[in-house]
Amino acid sequence: ELHRIPHPPRRIPLMGDVIGANVRTPVQDSMRVARELGPIFRRKAFGKEIVFVGGAGLASDMADESRFAKHVGLGVANLRPVAGDGLFTAYNHEPNWQLAHDILAPGFNRDAMAGYHRLMLDVAGRLTERWDERERTGRAVDVPGDMTKLTLETIARTGFGYDFGSFERERPHPFVTAMVGTLAFAQRRNTVPAALAPFVLREATRRNDADMAYLNRTVDEVVAARRAEGGSGELRDLLDRMLEVAHPETGERLTAENIRRQVITFLVAGHETTSGALSFALHYLARNPEVLARAQDEVDRVWAGKDEPAYEDVARLRYLRRVLDESLRLWPTAPAFAREARHDTVLGGEHPMRRGAWALVLTMTVHRDPEAWGEDAEVFDPDRFDPKAVRARPAHVFKPFGTGARACIGRQFALHEATLVLGLLLRRYDLRADPAYRLRVVERLTLMPEGLRLNVARR
Ligand code: HEM
Repeated sequence: ELHRIPHPPRRIPLMGDVIGANVRTPVQDSMRVARELGPIFRRKAFGKEIVFVGGAGLASDMADESRFAKHVGLGVANLRPVAGDGLFTAYNHEPNWQLAHDILAPGFNRDAMAGYHRLMLDVAGRLTERWDERERTGRAVDVPGDMTKLTLETIARTGFGYDFGSFERERPHPFVTAMVGTLAFAQRRNTVPAALAPFVLREATRRNDADMAYLNRTVDEVVAARRAEGGSGELRDLLDRMLEVAHPETGERLTAENIRRQVITFLVAGHETTSGALSFALHYLARNPEVLARAQDEVDRVWAGKDEPAYEDVARLRYLRRVLDESLRLWPTAPAFAREARHDTVLGGEHPMRRGAWALVLTMTVHRDPEAWGEDAEVFDPDRFDPKAVRARPAHVFKPFGTGARACIGRQFALHEATLVLGLLLRRYDLRADPAYRLRVVERLTLMPEGLRLNVARR
């Protein structure tokens, strides 16, 4: 059925359409192709035919859980050596997915989240100390760098009671360097044919092995430290749940090896994407003075008279939440996810798919489809997430956290953390964009604004 799906005209054996494409920015590149080829297209890369879905209509059809499920392929599959059958990289049929999901999902319910709030405030306090110091010395802040420190500390402390000391270091913690290395390697492996990998990626593979060994070693230390403390009987964080909770029905527990995979999974999945989301939001806030003023008014009003916002005060920042949503619309920091047909089906009533056939949903392209978002879809406008506007849109066209049973387990965590931090920052600072800055987005499986610096001034 593939012949009915358009593809770029140029076909070069082996290298396929990847020639001429920028291998460092595959997502942004695919978005450009989508503009020419429409809501569904295929690109050939190394003998693999990949179908891309960028149209909002087709993407919402793929959200139908009775016909489609998550597909573990490409970038996700390349993370298997690091993340194994951890939640993010597990195949749907692997028993450890359901087991870990059932054990860990309560770690994200309201009560658990309220328990993380204190730690989130503490980490945010480290950030504002740093920004105050930057202001005093007249230096700009490195937004992605600082947001990555913040989100890594937050997931490490709330999830595992571990302190990477990110704010005390000038260079990133070696764990971050190793993690970014394995992510970049996973992305690169997508673009090199398997047969050539042993030659082309020899040096990179060696480095990657060392990075992975380092990640494993660090995690083993974290787990060992907790085991040495002995169980407290109290479930304070994700690690307590991993070590102490048995499945409510089967009584099964996570194995030591699986726990290692989950810890790495959460440290990776739990911070890069949130860091990117915060960075893009700060970029847009600094660039849109009227949006910034409105968001600041809201924070001043809703948090008036409080030294520190309580857990419930965060969700009350409705407008700020729209700013965040709108940033995630234009730059969904986990920019694609794959879906496969559960059985033979017809996508969008038009494209037959066999059981197991899959396509990559280009979230960023779906989020900018004029059919769902209007002719001004490229324009930043938080009012799109006004409840009235949301109701007027078709369902399933906003998917920064993926879809269905395998959607992001950390969604509420990320939204609480990001809204809290943005609220604290806007209450404290005015943001001044560098007029010379042009948004450039780097891709390493996730999206991040490159070289974004802002000047901050205490209000
Ligand atoms: C899954 C996005 C934050 C943990 C996913 C998926 C997306 C996503 C798109 C589905 C991937 C797929 O279908 O293949 C994001 C974004 C975030 C964010 C944009 C921040 C703005 C977090 C946080 C955590 C987390 C803070 C942990 C605390 C996970 C896990 C999965 C996942 C464990 C796998 C779930 C499963 O398959 O059962 N995320 N995420 N994420 N995310 Fe997030």
